[in-house]
Amino acid sequence: MNARTAKGTGKGAVAVAARPFHYRGRVLYCDGVSLAQLAEAHGTPLYVYSAKQIRYRFGLFQEAFAGREATVCYAVKANSSLAILRMLAEMGAGFDIVSGGELERVRLASKTALKRVVFSGAGKQEWEIDAALKAGILMFNVESEAELGLLATRAEALGVRARFALRVNPDVFAETHPYISTGLGSHKFGVEIGLARGIYRRTARSKWLDAAGVSVHIGSQIRAVEPFAAALARVAGLVGELREDGHKIRVVDAGGGLGIDYLDSPTEPKFDAARKVREYAAALAKAAERLGAVHLLVEPGRFVAAQAGGLMTRVIGVKQNGAKTFVITDAAMNDLIRPALYQAHHEILPVRRGRGASTKVDVVGPICESGDFFAHDRVMERVKAGDLLLLLDAGAYGMSQASNYNTRVRAAEVLVDEDEARLIRRRETLRDLMAAEIL
Ligand code: LLP
Repeated sequence: MNARTAKGTGKGAVAVAARPFHYRGRVLYCDGVSLAQLAEAHGTPLYVYSAKQIRYRFGLFQEAFAGREATVCYAVKANSSLAILRMLAEMGAGFDIVSGGELERVRLASKTALKRVVFSGAGKQEWEIDAALKAGILMFNVESEAELGLLATRAEALGVRARFALRVNPDVFAETHPYISTGLGSHKFGVEIGLARGIYRRTARSKWLDAAGVSVHIGSQIRAVEPFAAALARVAGLVGELREDGHKIRVVDAGGGLGIDYLDSPTEPKFDAARKVREYAAALAKAAERLGAVHLLVEPGRFVAAQAGGLMTRVIGVKQNGAKTFVITDAAMNDLIRPALYQAHHEILPVRRGRGASTKVDVVGPICESGDFFAHDRVMERVKAGDLLLLLDAGAYGMSQASNYNTRVRAAEVLVDEDEARLIRRRETLRDLMAAEIL
């Protein structure tokens, strides 16, 4: 562990708009690249990401924690594209992983980043633990006493000491969607904070376990900073007790979860990412005062990637059913499941604007379920077959949650860097899709 991982970007905080998508005349651009041209070159559905926005967002965290020993561990699950992981690794990122698969992604993106990996997740398997031990990761965030037993067994088998942090459940309520809230006593994650001391005490007997830290993660898409501070304050209390018991706690992992504004409000000011991260860091710093010397980890995912990306789709047709108008797109819930799964709101922009008056429509995909929608009763410019649309804020938990439902190939992905665009994942083919099947 070294203190240098939390270095700033060196560029100073040049403010960047919350999203990289903007109109030049009538055409929507991602930074310096026309989306109409990208659709032409790569087809749709197409995920488009701004490298500049991702670097900027990640850099905000690095700058906000630059004054202390800290590592920003990007949550791989938010967007696990190898090209994006490599870009972040080059900035000195650590990574929060939740599977052996994500470990492999980090390895492919950057071998040197492996030592900055934390391994979270409620059900780690033996092969995953082994792979992570061999890779020499920074720390395991352990979610139960049983898992700790397994970790000790595997560490002994491999002849290495395993650094771990128990993930404690601070019983803090944070306002978010119930599916992505994790910090309450009733959730499957972590162990009750009141039981933690006993568990650390019992592990002290194993020479294969190194109780290096304590970790916490209270949920995702949390827009207020107070719950993070409340959770960390509880962790600080526990760290004090653990130190009294003789454990050398050096790392505290405050988890991820900082939320963004998906909904553009006509009355509220535009989302200010830099300010949000500063508030978040200040709240954590205050709660961390009691911690003394620790290496602080944070695990942002959504905040780094969501607004940097959009999902571009082409209108297949417009259909009238009774009083309703349906805009049917070539993207579907298999490409972006957030509206179907969390009733999430994503803004939708026409790639060529100014073509018609506004109307109220449902934007839906072609999949055989009514849950396959992107928007209900959305007022937007009239569109027709062949037009292109962009679903905003799809850079996190978009492609990473995509599936092949309805035997649909997964979308291609493009990374825009200023005026240049690079294909970072080709569109799947039907052959890819069926390659693993046995007839
Ligand atoms: N650390 C841990 C242990 C996590 O479980 C998560 C997210 C993160 C960090 C990153 O949280 P973030 O900063 O991205 O909020 N699919 C849902 C979100 C699920 C989040 C799961 N855990 C969505 O589309 O909203």
